[in-house]
Amino acid sequence: MYAVEVNQLNKTFGKTVILNDIDLEMEAGGFTVLLGSSGCGKSTLLRLIAGLEDVSSGQVKIGAKDVTLADPKDRDIAMVFQSYALFPHMTVAENIGFGMRINHRPKTEIQSRVKDVTEMLQIDHLLDRTPSQLSGGQRQRVAIGRALVREPKVFLFDEPLSNLDAKLRAEMRLELKKLHEKLNATIVYVTHDQIEAMTLATRIVLLDKGVIQQIGNPYEIYNTPANCFVARFVGSPQINLLQGNLVCQQDQWGIEIGKTIISLAHYEFSAAPKEGRQVLLGIRPEHITQSPLSSDMTMDLPVNAFEMTGSETLAEFDLHGQPLRAKLEANVEIANGLALPLHLNLSRISVFCAESEQRL
Ligand SMILES: Nc1ncnc2c1ncn2[C@@H]1O[C@H](COP(=O)(O)OP(=O)(O)O)[C@@H](O)[C@H]1O
Ligand SMILES: [Mg+2]
Repeated sequence: MYAVEVNQLNKTFGKTVILNDIDLEMEAGGFTVLLGSSGCGKSTLLRLIAGLEDVSSGQVKIGAKDVTLADPKDRDIAMVFQSYALFPHMTVAENIGFGMRINHRPKTEIQSRVKDVTEMLQIDHLLDRTPSQLSGGQRQRVAIGRALVREPKVFLFDEPLSNLDAKLRAEMRLELKKLHEKLNATIVYVTHDQIEAMTLATRIVLLDKGVIQQIGNPYEIYNTPANCFVARFVGSPQINLLQGNLVCQQDQWGIEIGKTIISLAHYEFSAAPKEGRQVLLGIRPEHITQSPLSSDMTMDLPVNAFEMTGSETLAEFDLHGQPLRAKLEANVEIANGLALPLHLNLSRISVFCAESEQRL
């Protein structure tokens, strides 16, 4: 198991800055997910680690070794692409054994490795088929098999599941998780899908426009987002961000939103708060419920709109002119204009500076 490290990494294409001063340590044996929307630089970062692209400046280390200038084949990595990149005229067995054949491994060794790997991935009954005779999910397994057979120090995955339909994606997600536990390998995994990141990662690196927004485990990213971008990026439906002002009454901090004051008694500020400061209160829709909790606040608010999904009711309320979305139970009695009692779980909120959008 090797850690992967990038130091002050920069990448520009022409005059366009794609990656800006990336400092990152991807732990040995960890499942690091590079998360961000399309075009933010995830694949470029992965390709720099793989050596498929040259750095503009900075350093890439795999294990203790500086590989910044090393050839991809000398980096002891294996990469799995979204497009699978299988050889169409070769069988499954030939595709998976290809790298070992190139390295002149003995035939019996190749056969035995291919057998082990295809059994692990449950494609050992497909060895003689060509890629055109496989489903999308099976092709993806072959691509993963081709990476596994090489026993690399580090696996790099670039959106390996995004060509699969939703059901298969969920299945493969679970299998990748099991595979990681079994192999105990270092994985660096690129995706734009927050669910994949939340479920697979030991650590998430959230990128926007080539700049790291936050590094943390899924719990930290979800519950203590470093800024509004991170808060909005994870969670569905999106977090509520309500405009208000910081107030202090009898040594108690709160946020004034219209005529309502929301208590910050449970909130741990990371910097000293300032009275009157314009802020955004972040509260996730699932933390506004109809069942009273220990650290809550109760308000009666009118329903603006609602939709029933079968398993839950998503409702939008009006709080002094600002929309407030809540995830309520499926069988709630609801109608537009009707006021419902709501409980806010104030132990789960975030507060951001309205100007910088950074967590306070
Ligand atoms: N070879 C290249 N030449 C010029 N621009 C590129 C090249 N590769 C990627 N880009 C640009 O770099 C940005 C980041 O791309 P990429 O790393 O593929 O993003 P992501 O994988 O996050 O969707 C995009 O704006 C893309 O157009
Ligand atoms: Mg990409």
